[in-house]
Parts: sequence; C-alpha cells; structure tokens
Amino acid sequence: MSKALWIRQAYAIDPQSGREGTTDILVEKGVIAAIDGDLSGKRGLPEDPKALSPLKVQVVEAEGLLLTPGLIDLHVHLRVPGQVHKETMETGTRAAAAGGFTQILTLPNTQPVIDRPELVEEVLSLAKEKAVVRVHVAASVTLGQRGETLAPLGRLSRAGALAFTDDGRPVRDPFLMAMALTYARHLGKVILSHSEEPAFSRDGVCHQGKVALRLGLKGIPSLAESLGVMRDIQLALATGGRLHLMHLSTKESVEALRWGKAMGAPITAEVTPHHLALTTEELERWRYDPCTKVNPPLREEEDRQALVEALREGLIDIIATDHAPHSREEKSLSYEEAPFGISGLETAFPLLYETLVRPGHLKLTDLVRRLTVEPARLLGLPGGKLLEGEPADLSLFDLHTPFVVDPETFQSKGKNTPLKGRELRGRCVGTFVAGKEVWRLG
Ligand code: DOR
Repeated sequence: MSKALWIRQAYAIDPQSGREGTTDILVEKGVIAAIDGDLSGKRGLPEDPKALSPLKVQVVEAEGLLLTPGLIDLHVHLRVPGQVHKETMETGTRAAAAGGFTQILTLPNTQPVIDRPELVEEVLSLAKEKAVVRVHVAASVTLGQRGETLAPLGRLSRAGALAFTDDGRPVRDPFLMAMALTYARHLGKVILSHSEEPAFSRDGVCHQGKVALRLGLKGIPSLAESLGVMRDIQLALATGGRLHLMHLSTKESVEALRWGKAMGAPITAEVTPHHLALTTEELERWRYDPCTKVNPPLREEEDRQALVEALREGLIDIIATDHAPHSREEKSLSYEEAPFGISGLETAFPLLYETLVRPGHLKLTDLVRRLTVEPARLLGLPGGKLLEGEPADLSLFDLHTPFVVDPETFQSKGKNTPLKGRELRGRCVGTFVAGKEVWRLG
C-alpha cells in the first residue's frame, strides 16, 4: 500500500475552486483525502507530526512554499521512439517532474512517426515502465507526417491517442486538414495544429525583421503563421472539428484567434513561455548561437505584449512549453543548419513567474490556471485541481530564493536554452504524482 503524505502549511493556489491561502493536504491511497488550513489533530493525524512513523506517513514541511495542482503540459517532445540521443522516457519525464509537471502530452514527430496503433501502445507501455509522471500520447494526422494520406485516426484513437498533430510542420493540404478535423469531430478528439504557410516561411531561421537583417539571417515573416492560423480557423468553422492552435507567436495570430472565437469556431490556443518572455532581440545577445532558434521564431516586443494581453484576457487558453530537446552536437551547428527548438520543461514556471507575475503583468492564480485546470479541460484529463477525491498530483515552488539557470543541472538531455545564466525565482522544489514524491530539489 502506498505511504500517506501530509503536506503542511503550504501557500496553496487552486484556480478551479478559488482556494488561496495557507493549507495542509493529506494524501491517502494516491488521492487527496483532506484539505484544511491546519490538519493537526484532525483526520486521525496527531498534533505533533513527529509522532508519526516516517514509514507510514511522509511529512513535508512546506511553510513559505507555493503549492499548486501538478502542472500539465500539452506540448512535449519526448523524442520517443527513436531519438534517444535527444531525450528518453526517463530523462524527459524526470525533466517534467523537475519543472513541476505531473502530466504531459508527448508529440509524434519521432522516428518512426507515431502514425500506427502499435506505436501508440508502445509509447504508452514504455511510459508505464519508465515514466515518473503521467504520459499521454498524440499521434500524427498524416502517415509519416508527410501530408499526403490521413493516418488511421479511429484506430489510433482506440489505441489510446488523445489528440492528433503533425507538429513540426503544418498539414499543407487544406482539404486533408478539413478531413482530419471532420474525423476528429466524430471521434471526439482535437487536432493540434502547427499553423504555418511554408510558401512564406521557406528556409527562414528567425523572425523576419531588423535583427534578421542586421545578422544576415533569413527571416520567417509573421504572415507565415497568421495565414496558416486563419486558414485553420476557417476549416474548424466549416467542419465543426475541434482545433487547438499551438505555439502562437504573433499579434496577427492573436487577432485571428479573437475573430475565430467571436465567430463561434470550436478553437482553443496555446502560447509558450519563451514567446511570452523573450523577443528576437535575444538573438543580438546570443548572436549566432542556435540556442535561440525555435519554430515559430521569437518575435517582436509588440507580439510578445499581444500574447501576454491575450493570456490575461483568457483569449489564449493555455501555456505549453514546446519542450524540444536536441543534442549538443546538433545545436553546435551553424544557425542555418541547427534544428529548431528550446528545452523548456525545467525553466517554464520560473521564467513565467519572474517575467510576468513578479512585475505584476499576470496574476499568479491566472498563471497556475493556464498550466493546470485549462489544459486538463482541453483534453478531458483528470487532475489539475486541489479537491478531495482528486488524484494527488501536486507541485511545490520556492518563489523567494533566486537561482541562476544552469542547463548542466537539467534532468533533460536537452541543454539547449537561451536562459543560461539568467537569474530567476519560482523553482520547483517538490513534485508528487498520486502522492508519490517524484522530484525533490537538492
Ligand atoms: O522549435 C520547434 N521544435 N518547433 C517545432 O514545431 C518542433 C520542435 C521540435 O520537434 O524540435
């Protein structure tokens, strides 16, 4: 039988119930058994926690720490199967736990692409064996993500795929995308779209603008994204299929989203921590170091502000990391040749806390909402709330002690981050899945 867990005197935030304040939580058999301001002397617990046998109850003194429902990330590249040089089930899920994430959705741009039911089953069974957090699987929209033939969405769904995406690239043919949305509607599933018009992104490597010109790098115009976003919204409207717009990065995309929602399109959207916190100016600092190379690219300050505002308004529904680990060798190539991607699981919460919450641009409860209850709602997942009877997926954060980002300490194999050397607050110090400790700092 699993050990009970008593977290004492944490500062809890639960956007779902509106709970905010000093809280004790008792976990029994993997679920939240009791939540109260102080559980000493209640629910069979002694006044003095030292009276308990550590073999029976794990006591965590959490005074001064923030307690949230376990964070949920719907955009993670675990690189399973096939790309163990970038990440593995163990390293990727340990990175998730170290970032405070207790549930992740892994994406199918792997080798081979997750486009067959056997591969969905394989990833799920590997997760059962090796993962330290809950892993859900997205399968591809088209066979091999080649954009030619639809993958067997019904069979993939029955094998356990929770959503479909060709992320890494768009579904280029709009008719195929419409078919995918129609099938997804019948299956009650969501299409996660990497909306991009390749005719405009071409072989660009960063945002098209002054910085690209100064550095002599080929740019990706904002239009490459907003054109794709607008197309996909129109297709969702026409088919009634549920569309989730991934990693929005431009102010024009935000306006397209606003239009689509006003029209009643069945759409939701996400934004990444890096697009909320960083701009293309970051390239001036890192010059030709591809740690800033990501798709969609880091944009202008005006775009960043539009994304923050859209998040604050609730127009953008969730935050997702787009955790994209790559090997050192790959990220040591030239800016043009290196792959797109930032390793984001372990810096997401501190980056957002430091850049948005501390200066007062976003309420802490709204940050937590966009990382817990909203992603849970989007895919119909359990968890994301601090309620009795819910799975005891919990995270603890230290909002006070500054730390310097050192990718060498990452659990992830991907050390590729432009945040190296940055001082942040809001580090995850403890993570629990079904009441079991899966991460403790130090
Ligand atoms: O930067 C990115 N990296 N964007 C994507 O869409 C894919 C991802 C990856 O798989 O590396």
